[in-house]
Amino acid sequence: MSDRAKLIAVMHGVNLDQLGRRDPALYGTLTLAELEQRIEREASALGLATSFFHTNHEGDFIEHLHSLRAPPTPSTQADAILLNPGAWTHYAWAIRDALEITGLPALEIHLSDVHSREPWRRVSVISELCFASVSGRGPDGYAEALALLRDQLEGAEA
Ligand code: DQA
Repeated sequence: MSDRAKLIAVMHGVNLDQLGRRDPALYGTLTLAELEQRIEREASALGLATSFFHTNHEGDFIEHLHSLRAPPTPSTQADAILLNPGAWTHYAWAIRDALEITGLPALEIHLSDVHSREPWRRVSVISELCFASVSGRGPDGYAEALALLRDQLEGAEA
């Protein structure tokens, strides 16, 4: 790996700012701020840097994706994306297109097991653009996702 720590853009979408008051059996008990602190610690233990973004507004989510420039842009804003778009996952085709525009490796994550819930949650409009998906592991899933991202970025450099 190069000297610069690889930068993971961690993006949380609609309603994820309500963690801590959503069903703990599905989403755990951490607030979004607590979850982000934990992700930052776990990423740094793996030698990864992180940036965090949350919004409840689809257009803002899309504009943040537009702002992420793939290397070798001099001011690289991200080397990869770790995203949980919340319910947008299941129908927001404009987010799918914006993710494609980034050209960055992406991993889709969900706290709850979207495959064992309502049928509409089994649909993901972004999964075809993601090299992996982690679902149903609660906050622990983030450590797994970060390790997969590190391996993916190391593999791309080898
Ligand atoms: C979620 C799953 C989505 O179906 C749901 O709409 C969310 C959160 C998850 O992390 O489990 O808001 O993405």
